[in-house]
Amino acid sequence: MNKLGTKPLATERLILRPFRLDDAEDMFAAWANDPEVTRYLTWPPHGSAEITAMVLKDWVSHYGEGDYFQWAIAPRETDRVIGSISVVRLNEATEAAEIGYCLSRAEWGRGIMPEALRAVMAYLFGEVSLNRVCAAHDARNPKSGRVMEKAGMRKEGVFRQAGRNNQGLCDEVWYAALRSEWT
Ligand SMILES: CC(C)(COP(=O)(O)OP(=O)(O)OC[C@H]1O[C@@H](n2cnc3c(N)ncnc32)[C@H](O)[C@@H]1OP(=O)(O)O)[C@@H](O)C(=O)NCCC(=O)NCCS
Repeated sequence: MNKLGTKPLATERLILRPFRLDDAEDMFAAWANDPEVTRYLTWPPHGSAEITAMVLKDWVSHYGEGDYFQWAIAPRETDRVIGSISVVRLNEATEAAEIGYCLSRAEWGRGIMPEALRAVMAYLFGEVSLNRVCAAHDARNPKSGRVMEKAGMRKEGVFRQAGRNNQGLCDEVWYAALRSEWT
């Protein structure tokens, strides 16, 4: 594994870059305070922009670490954050990463997250040299499965009542891609 950390990435419509402390207001207003966005996530909606600022302070403090991957998603034209995508679990022994992501509700349905996930997978396979990139979603949140599918992951199976999120216990649907099948 090459410990290259959260390197800025670009796609056709997006910039993926490290978060900055001054993203707090945009992040709070765009998704961190929205219970529809956090419905199937493990953290509660932020009650104030101060909480978002505290979270960002923690994230920013890790950017010196080569095994820390936490990108802000922003449209190329505005550079204002509309979502996030990150490695939520890294296993160096198996060269594997688990990805998590969320996006402002105003941006849903435009293929933004599949575009971001493809860029992150290309980076993690191509430059960081990982072997496996995976992700899981609550079975009640199939649109996240569509993101994984459209980005090139394959469904591997369901772990029944294996997770807990804001809706309680949940069946986890797992997807993954391997470097050998990545094109
Ligand atoms: C899941 C999520 C990242 C999808 O991102 P996106 O950029 O909207 O993804 P897409 O545009 O490719 O849409 C994916 C699916 O969502 C559904 N969808 C599209 N527009 C929608 C809308 N306006 N409202 C609700 N669902 C919609 C469709 O089923 C679509 O699949 P399709 O392309 O086969 O029609 C986004 O909805 C989100 O951030 N949700 C809240 C956080 C979350 O659930 N994160 C994942 C946890 S595992």
